[in-house]
Amino acid sequence: MKKIIVLSLLALILVATVLTGCSKPTATPTVAPTEVPTEVCDAAGEEEFTLEELAAYNGKDGAKAYIAVDGVVYDVTEVEEWANGAHNDFEAGKDLSAEIKESAHGVAKLEGLTIVGKIVE
Ligand code: HEM
Repeated sequence: MKKIIVLSLLALILVATVLTGCSKPTATPTVAPTEVPTEVCDAAGEEEFTLEELAAYNGKDGAKAYIAVDGVVYDVTEVEEWANGAHNDFEAGKDLSAEIKESAHGVAKLEGLTIVGKIVE
């Protein structure tokens, strides 16, 4: 009788071990992030400007100098080439999408500029 009880207990322990501890841990799936964190995007320029409002940011008389390219508004206030809101006969406070694309440097010069916001109707 004692033998049966001991054997049953051993069998029980064996089953319990198989059911709990010995099963291979399922690996946590590592899903690559597919979305850009929106907080970062929102923080980088959430202001909205009409073209009329943008005109005030011409870099003159202490005003900030903003330019718009393809609907995005960039701050060029601290950019040496845009001192007083002017650069190669172009003026800040305007949409210069076509003009910058026609220039030798193209849109590459926009890289690293602070984005203030976007153009709205
Ligand atoms: C947003 C509108 C812009 C327009 C329309 C524009 C236009 C021009 C033009 C016409 C030139 C003379 C060379 C050429 O004929 O292509 C030029 C040169 C230059 N621009 Fe701009 N530019 C703009 C923005 C910028 C910005 C944002 C920067 C700097 C952050 C910049 C920096 C320079 C520099 C350093 C030169 C001297 C030549 C070179 O390095 O490529 N420009 N730009």
